[in-house]
Amino acid sequence: MPKLSYSGVVKINEICDRYKDEPTPLMMILSDIQNEYGYIPLEVQEIVSQKTGISVAEIYGVVTFYSFFSLTPKGKYVIGCCLGTACYVKGAQQVIDKFSEILSIKPGETTTDGLFTLDALRCIGACGIAPAVSINGTVYPKMSVDQVSGIINDYRAKEAAA
Ligand code: FES
Repeated sequence: MPKLSYSGVVKINEICDRYKDEPTPLMMILSDIQNEYGYIPLEVQEIVSQKTGISVAEIYGVVTFYSFFSLTPKGKYVIGCCLGTACYVKGAQQVIDKFSEILSIKPGETTTDGLFTLDALRCIGACGIAPAVSINGTVYPKMSVDQVSGIINDYRAKEAAA
């Protein structure tokens, strides 16, 4: 969303209208925008603010507090490495470091080809299969450092074949 188009503004207004009768609509509005566009830049937060009367400061606070909201575009494949306690003690830090090394990005960043975003997550509720990694909702159990390059190669091959 480099510069919001007229139809983009209409869409944001439409999303705000969906929840106009809700007493606390902000999370629902932001979730729908995140799902629709993949991120919530300041420009969009300003439209939500004008439409709902909620201050930009409050909206910005919510967007930056919750990790599932993003201020910048995410890659096609979002790699979420759990760094919660159960995963951490089973080597999750080494796993995320390996993703970082192979993709040449830090957690929170996206590769320049727009293919991968690397995120560090808190517990994703899969402690029994720690360390767990989620890629676009697919959970990879008991991840080891040795599996990382194979997984990335699989996604790259999938892209090349598309
Ligand atoms: S700590 Fe990683 S899934 Fe719970």
